[in-house]
Amino acid sequence: MSEVVGIVLAAGQGTRMRSATPKVLHKVAGRTLVACVVDAAFEAGVSRCVAVVGHAREEVTSLLSDLYGERVVTAHQADQRGTGHATQCGMSQLDGYEGKVLVLYGDCPLIPASVLSELIERGADADLALITATIDDPHGYGRILRDEQGRAIAIREHRDCSPDELAVNEVNPGLYLIDAAFLREAMASLKDDNDQGELYLTDVLAFAAERGDVVDVKGEMTTLRGVNDRAELAIVDQVMRRRIAERHARAGVGIRDLDDVWIDAQVVIAPDASIGPGVHLRGHCQIGAGAIIDVGCVLTDMRVAPDAHVLPYTVATESSIGDRAKVGPFTHLRPKTELGPDTKIGNFVETKKTRLGPGSKASHLSYLGDGEVGAGVNIGAGTIFCNYDGYQKNVTTLEDGVFIGSDSQLVAPLTIGKGAYVASGTTVTRDVPADALALSRTKQENKLGYAARLRARLEAMKKSKAKK
Ligand code: UD1
Ligand code: CA
Repeated sequence: MSEVVGIVLAAGQGTRMRSATPKVLHKVAGRTLVACVVDAAFEAGVSRCVAVVGHAREEVTSLLSDLYGERVVTAHQADQRGTGHATQCGMSQLDGYEGKVLVLYGDCPLIPASVLSELIERGADADLALITATIDDPHGYGRILRDEQGRAIAIREHRDCSPDELAVNEVNPGLYLIDAAFLREAMASLKDDNDQGELYLTDVLAFAAERGDVVDVKGEMTTLRGVNDRAELAIVDQVMRRRIAERHARAGVGIRDLDDVWIDAQVVIAPDASIGPGVHLRGHCQIGAGAIIDVGCVLTDMRVAPDAHVLPYTVATESSIGDRAKVGPFTHLRPKTELGPDTKIGNFVETKKTRLGPGSKASHLSYLGDGEVGAGVNIGAGTIFCNYDGYQKNVTTLEDGVFIGSDSQLVAPLTIGKGAYVASGTTVTRDVPADALALSRTKQENKLGYAARLRARLEAMKKSKAKK
C-alpha cells in the first residue's frame, strides 16, 4: 500500500463556541480536539501529518510540536477562506508527494482509528474515498447527493440546499482519502460560487464523480459528529468518556458505573484496580493493580501504587501514594507529596511537598507542608507544620520513629531526632535531639470546687438580669 499522509484542518476560530480559546484547543476527556484527530490518524497508520493553522496559530503550533515533534508540520492559512482553501494551504507542504492524503477536520474528536483504517483500505485504488452517514437530524451538515444509479455525485452545504435537498438525511461527516495528484487538480478547480463565498473542500466529490472514481463507505454518525458549539462539545465529551470507561472495564478495571466516571484519555490503570462512582482521574494518572479509588475522588497527575486505598472525596494533585497506603476520606494532597508504602493520611489532612517514609501516619486534621518525614512516625491530630514565615518556606524534618502529640505546632526550620517525643500541645521552635521529650506547656493547676462555685455565681447573675 502506498504512503498515507494526513492533513488536519484546524485554522478556524470556531465562532459558535463563543470562547476566547480557539475551537480545536477545547478538550474532551482531557485531550484537545485537534490531538484526538491527529492521534486517530496516526493510529490508523498515517506516516506524518500537516496541520493547517490560522487562529491562535502559535498556541496550536506549540501544542502540536510538544505532542508530536517533527511528525506534524504546520501550514499557515492566514485568512479562513473555507475548507478547500485550507486544504490548498496544507498541500503546499506536500510538494512532489505522490501517495494518498487523508483529509480530516480538527473538530471531529470521536473519529475511531478503525474507521480511518477502513477508509484507507477501501480507498486504495480510488481518486477519492469518503465516509457518509445517515442521521435523524441532518441540520447543519453537508448533504450527500446521489444520481439515479445511487452514485454519490456531490455534497451540498446546508445553507446552499434546495428544499428537496434539505430533506436528505445522508450527510458528510468530513473524512476523505484523496490521491495527491488528483487532489492538486481538484483544488485548482474549486470556485467560491456558494452562499459563504468560500472554497469548499466538499466540491472535490463532484469533480471526482465526473471521472467516475469515487468510493463511499458507510459510517456511524455518533462517532463522527463534529463540535461546533459548547452543547455539542458536552455531548461528544460524554461519548468519549463512556468509550474510555468501557475500554478500561474490558481490560479488567472494576468500574461500577460506566457513565459516572471521568477518566482522561492518557490515564493508565492496571487490571483489578477499582474506580468508584463520581471519580475524576485527570491528566496523566497511573493507578496500580488492586488499588481502590473510592467515590468522588478527584486525582490529577497522580501515581497510585498497587493495593493503595484512596477513600471517598479525596482531592490529590501531582503526587504519589505508595503501596498499600490509605488516604482519605476528605484528604487534600497538594503537589510533590510522596507517601511511602503502608502510610496513612486521614480525614482533613492537607499535605504539600512532603515525603512520608514507610508506615508513617497522620490520621486527622493536620497540615504537613515542606516536610521530610522518616519511617514509622506518628503525627497526632491537629499537628501543624508551620512552614511559612511570610517570606520563605522552611522544612520540617522528623526522623524515624518520632511521635508528635496532638495539637502541636512545629515551627520550621526544624529537625526532630530519631525516636523523640513531642508532648501534646507543644509549640516546637528548636531542634529536638534523638530520644528526647519536647514539652512547652505551662504547668497544670487544679482548683478544687471552683467550677461549682463559678456556676452558682453565673446562675445568680442571670436571674438578677431577668428580673430587671
Ligand atoms: C464541514 C463540511 C460539511 C460537513 C461538516 C462535518 C465543508 C465546506 N463543509 O462543515 O459538509 O458536513 O464539516 O462536520 O467542508 N477550517 C479551516 N479553515 C477554513 C475553514 C475551516 O481550517 O477556512 C477548519 C475548521 O477549523 C474546522 C474544520 O475546518 O476544524 C471544519 O470547518 P467548519 O467551519 O466547522 O465546517 P462545517 O460548517 O462544520
Ligand atoms: Ca464543523
